Amino acid sequence: HWTMEEFIGKEIARIREICGPAGRVIGAVSGGVDSTVAAKLMHEAIGDRFHAIMVDNGVLRLNEAKQVHEMLNTNLGVNLTVVDASELFLSRLEGIEDPEQKRKIIGNTFINVFEDEAAKIESAEESLGKGRVEWLLQGTLYPDVIESISFKGPSATIKTHHNVGGLLKDMKLKLIEPLRELFKDEVRALGCLLGIPAPLVQRHPFPGPGLAIRILGLVTRSQVAILQQADSIYIEEIRKAGLYDQIAQAFAVLLPVRAVGVMGDVRTYEQVIALRAVQTEDFMTADWYVFPADILRRISSRITNEVAGINRVTYDISSKPPATVEWL
Ligand code: XMP
Repeated sequence: HWTMEEFIGKEIARIREICGPAGRVIGAVSGGVDSTVAAKLMHEAIGDRFHAIMVDNGVLRLNEAKQVHEMLNTNLGVNLTVVDASELFLSRLEGIEDPEQKRKIIGNTFINVFEDEAAKIESAEESLGKGRVEWLLQGTLYPDVIESISFKGPSATIKTHHNVGGLLKDMKLKLIEPLRELFKDEVRALGCLLGIPAPLVQRHPFPGPGLAIRILGLVTRSQVAILQQADSIYIEEIRKAGLYDQIAQAFAVLLPVRAVGVMGDVRTYEQVIALRAVQTEDFMTADWYVFPADILRRISSRITNEVAGINRVTYDISSKPPATVEWL
């Protein structure tokens, strides 16, 4: 058995040995726990020879790209490029309602953007005589390793889950997977030891296809903006109430229907936000979370008052199964 301090020492030594004195590594970061911890570990091991890429796909949470830049680059010192590809993603999503289509488009576009950016970094650095990028960082955890061994083919009832890294397996790069022996709680402990702030380490999971699978119907810039604001208010109030760590995942969903409301003496006809919060061990089954009524009341009143285009908020009281955690 090993302690986490021993793990860090051993893993840093292993990364240095694998990469050699000049080896270069690139990796995608999402702002989530796994990719952040993996990136920080790489930075500890090989400094600026690790280069992180964050792709802004236009369906991130409010201010997320900015926050990831601040955390990884400013606070943790990681060499990071943020690529704003929102225009490309949103144009490819135009006219698309089907959830699996949305996932495919976002996955494929992500690969295109990441590969282009990696090539740019490579040629810029090559001209400085820095040598080739040979390695791709993957934030794979132990349960992912097990799942990819035991999961035999597609099933109509299982959503096609893609983590950022998993999409890039076909690049002509060798994989480096520093977290592949760890469970999620161990990654969190590792993150704490590496100086990553607790609110990031404890962050709820966020799907790769982002808000595109939380906007039912068509994904447009204005729909994204509405959902970002509602979601941000929801999470802010959950954090203020001290409930964030009791919930496995919480998020807002934007429904494509309009309902009647009233503001002053005018009738409104606007969209509906659904709030979701679940408790679960492994996300295979989940229960809806029971909020204190006053918290829900405050959240609802803030969203309907502050978010233009929303006049009604509902709370999702469905368990998984038969519902899923996400609405798409
Ligand atoms: P469901 O909706 O299948 O969600 O009950 C279970 C967990 O998986 C996440 N999820 C995804 N994560 N890409 C991802 O990276 C996806 O396409 C995707 N779909 C669902 C969901 O957020 C929850 O944590």
